[in-house]
Amino acid sequence: MKTNIIRDAQELSNYVRTAKQSGKTIGLVPTMGYLHEGHASLIRAARKQCDVVVVSDFVNPTQFGPKEDYATYPRDEQADLRLVESCGADVLFVPTVETLYPNGQDSTWVEVSKLGTILCGASRPGHFRGVTTVVTKLLWISQADYAFFGEKDYQQLTILRRMVRDLGCPCQIVGMPLVREDDGLALSSRNIHLTAEARNQALSLHRGLECARRAFQEGCRDAQTLIARARDEISSQPLAEIQYIEVADPETLEIFDAEVPARVIMLLAVRVGGVRLIDNMRLDG
Ligand code: PAF
Repeated sequence: MKTNIIRDAQELSNYVRTAKQSGKTIGLVPTMGYLHEGHASLIRAARKQCDVVVVSDFVNPTQFGPKEDYATYPRDEQADLRLVESCGADVLFVPTVETLYPNGQDSTWVEVSKLGTILCGASRPGHFRGVTTVVTKLLWISQADYAFFGEKDYQQLTILRRMVRDLGCPCQIVGMPLVREDDGLALSSRNIHLTAEARNQALSLHRGLECARRAFQEGCRDAQTLIARARDEISSQPLAEIQYIEVADPETLEIFDAEVPARVIMLLAVRVGGVRLIDNMRLDG
């Protein structure tokens, strides 16, 4: 099936308005492009659930800090179009920065207060404000009934769920399972920047999470011991620089530092050879 490329926000609004007038549901898959199998799983889920599937492809400058990798974030619109088309999306929305931020940094911002300042938010100030602002714009322009996000960005997913609830957005956020390579590496557009050596050492993230999960399943309920299991595995890799490893409530992201309850998720961020990777795992799963 042919996917339409739309670059103009008004054109997308007109397209979805016509579809909605004939009773169709709209599914949005927001992405920053350089699409991989993780994104494909979101698009396929949207295809199953919705009449019209819109995939947005936009490297959002406001979610990158001044010293982060906005300029070098990988981009390949042609390859994205091929993947989106093979998954049956109706529209690939590729706006410019000027389209989404007509006044530059002098913008209206959407911010989920406390949740955006912990975990990744602590080491990336302003990151989640950029995410929630751009996703609000995309939801508004696309009038999506459903929006699909991967659980790899677990904090992002939690924040977006909270945002639509707080703002009363008429859109349901759908979370989809994290997708891994066969050897356990979580799929990420940033993996392309890993050298062979760094990629090999990055496998310790998944191994570390598995060590913690095993300890949990053997009865360990002490947050610091669970964290130490993952930390020992990851810090044995010379290229790995741990930013955080935490255990938290899977719904609220309340962080546990002593005894953990029966339902718990471990989340971590690690720079491996200079590439920042995040990963997570339910320990009770
Ligand atoms: O997860 C991403 O790729 C981005 O944070 C998102 C949700 C597309 C917003 O730019």
